[in-house]
Amino acid sequence: MPWWLILIVNYLLGSLPCGLIVGWVLRGVDIRKFGSGNIGATNVSRVVGFKGALLAGVLDALKGFVGAYLASVFLPHPGWWLVAVFLIVIGHNWSIFLGFKGGKGVATTLGVLFYLSWPAASLCFLAWVVAVALTRYSSLGSLTGAALMPIFLVVFGRPWHFVFWGILAAVLVFIRHRENIRRLISGQELKIGQKKERD
Ligand code: G3P
Repeated sequence: MPWWLILIVNYLLGSLPCGLIVGWVLRGVDIRKFGSGNIGATNVSRVVGFKGALLAGVLDALKGFVGAYLASVFLPHPGWWLVAVFLIVIGHNWSIFLGFKGGKGVATTLGVLFYLSWPAASLCFLAWVVAVALTRYSSLGSLTGAALMPIFLVVFGRPWHFVFWGILAAVLVFIRHRENIRRLISGQELKIGQKKERD
């Protein structure tokens, strides 16, 4: 596959709004009108429930895994690899199908991480589970997992460009959670499963 086609495929793959589609198909609703308004698995859980959230999370993660695989096979040069892998999450966060709006990229980032290092991904997911079990805040779990991601990539001896990607992806997760961070500080963040229709 030519290099430019991988970039386009990865961006389009990332752009698929799986959570939004799950909400439409399983409940006939636009999940952007509920809860946090986000298109990710956490917000699907508020509207559709656990099974829908699981489906949305797995599909979003699969996008990341497949995109990382395509980049690694067809664009192994570290510079181009970084661009190609980053474009998957860019697509999720700024989807061409949603007028360049989108999600926060957590599940998709985790999918990429599973391709790069399954032990690192498992530990980041575990960090999310522990943080959510303790606080019921999915966003806090996502931020914790993202912060640990580059550290685990170093610990498990992955190449420098994987680690560099981990740092960039973690920064992106924090940027996309700006509103969540403000709400966490002000005590207004929605907990997992907490339903609230948007105005
Ligand atoms: O993965 C997104 C999660 O960290 C926050 O989701 O819907 O509470 O903004 P939400």
